[in-house]
Amino acid sequence: MFVRLLTTALSATVAHAHLAPWHKGMYGFNGVTGSINYNTDDVVHPLYQLTKDQWWFHHYNNVDQFPPAEGDFLELPAGGSFTVEIASNRGETSLSFNGKYATDWPDGQNYPEDYNVPTCITSPNMHTQNQTRAAGTAFAIAYTSDITKVTEDNLAVFTVRYHTPWKRITSYDVPADMPACPEGGCICAWGWVPNGCGQPNMYHLPYRCMVTGAKSTKVVGAAKAPVWCQNDPDACTKGPKQMIYWNQLDGNNIEVEGVDADNEFKSPAYNDKCGFPDGAQNDIFTGASSGSSSSSSSGSSSSSSGSSNSKSSTTSSSSSKADTGAAAVNKAKTPTSASSSAPSSTASAKATAGTTCSPRKVRRALAKRAAVHGGAVVHRRKAGHVF
Ligand SMILES: *[C@@H]1O[C@H](CO)[C@@H](O)[C@H](O)[C@H]1NC(C)=O
Repeated sequence: MFVRLLTTALSATVAHAHLAPWHKGMYGFNGVTGSINYNTDDVVHPLYQLTKDQWWFHHYNNVDQFPPAEGDFLELPAGGSFTVEIASNRGETSLSFNGKYATDWPDGQNYPEDYNVPTCITSPNMHTQNQTRAAGTAFAIAYTSDITKVTEDNLAVFTVRYHTPWKRITSYDVPADMPACPEGGCICAWGWVPNGCGQPNMYHLPYRCMVTGAKSTKVVGAAKAPVWCQNDPDACTKGPKQMIYWNQLDGNNIEVEGVDADNEFKSPAYNDKCGFPDGAQNDIFTGASSGSSSSSSSGSSSSSSGSSNSKSSTTSSSSSKADTGAAAVNKAKTPTSASSSAPSSTASAKATAGTTCSPRKVRRALAKRAAVHGGAVVHRRKAGHVF
């Protein structure tokens, strides 16, 4: 039994796994099969050289078809901050197994504070040499509850965190002027374009979100594509900016050529090289006031203090179902009726084209993990990439 589960886990993930911000408000929180997978990593696969219909909201493996549970939202306290857990697998966050496998780092392991690998940190797969070089990540928001209505023009970057992804617990600041979302909430997205080492891919993951404690009725303006503007602030796109769409077969919104100020090939990212300041993006409210303000969702600004949410409220309810989680993993090979179309293996292969991973490392890592945990719980470790 254990061996079979292990094999399933292995074949499902022969690496390619990178990082994503976990939260119960995310699409694909339970995986993409219709069962609950406490070890899912379906959202962490990077997007590279895909057509827009495939990369948009990670459609290539149907992440956008698996909304969060009713009532689960990423809450954005106006003027405050919110926290997510960046990890390579849900099993390595506080959101599975009571956080038993979570550490300060995204892969359940421990590393020195000044973790630095001159070639590239591949464990966890952070696409950087050290924290200073980490490219930066962002959340964007669209003021619609309907994920199919989200476009690059109404999805505006509202917060950026420089030098991420790095540690597991990561917080982002919310502009004080963020207006309330419509009745059913907003759609948010997370983006990351790594820089410097590894495959130059990108991330585009959907969330259900809502602004809490909103006092403003300002309106987020139409987002415009960011441009490369390192050391030339006047050239930067002003006002609300689109997410960065790069290195895909179509739907790209930025082009760069040549080298940056460090004499390295330009790599657009959520940092000052593309005109994104760190923290809340306070210049996005250029939209015309609609007059009729949307329904208010203020009042329950619970998580506004930011800090550590490592023991989230979902943890206890999850753990009581931990036993069925293993069964869910086992069933993962059979798509259920919940998935309208089975994941296409060609799309999946395309998505990871160019990433070469080492199966040997995966096996060694799994063997090590199994030894450590005595096989009590099927828990996968991420494999290091070979570039
Ligand atoms: C980070 O990595 C870069 C590139 O290898 C290196 O030049 C820099 O000194 C490193 N910084 C730290 C703080 O280790």
